[in-house]
Amino acid sequence: DRVGDFEFSAFEREQIEHAIHHYAEPRAAIIDALKIVQSQRRWVPDGAVYAIADILGVGAGDVEGVATFYNRIYRQPVGRHVIAVCDSIGCFLMGFDQLYGSIQQKLGIKPGQTTADDRFTLLPIVCLGACDKAPVLMVNDATHFNVTPENIDSVLEQYK
Ligand code: FES
Repeated sequence: DRVGDFEFSAFEREQIEHAIHHYAEPRAAIIDALKIVQSQRRWVPDGAVYAIADILGVGAGDVEGVATFYNRIYRQPVGRHVIAVCDSIGCFLMGFDQLYGSIQQKLGIKPGQTTADDRFTLLPIVCLGACDKAPVLMVNDATHFNVTPENIDSVLEQYK
């Protein structure tokens, strides 16, 4: 069942076609195509999954599989900034619970939700490979280390 109302912008189409030419196999461009759409729309709607499958000549299931594998491809709408808090063991032992709780309390949202002003979406994420600087979180593409309930405000205020 196709989702009919999605169309690539001219920019998206051009960027995706450019990506296709980088690889011997169009399939290899799936992640690039997902990132291109997400960079323009913040997230990847269902229609985009089908459109990417069409333009690459692969199955929609293949596109969905790649989107699911990468935990920073969003298949639901997100706010202007995405806070992804590491909940793996290193951060868990160093105060993840307190940090995650304080963010939820400050923003008035639960994990998976977006603030009413569309400013932040809060999500968990697996180990970011910086366990010696736990607790660790990302906001968009930036990683923040040793984040605590005491210094979280100074992190969040960088994102308007
Ligand atoms: Fe959090 Fe590794 S456990 S960065």
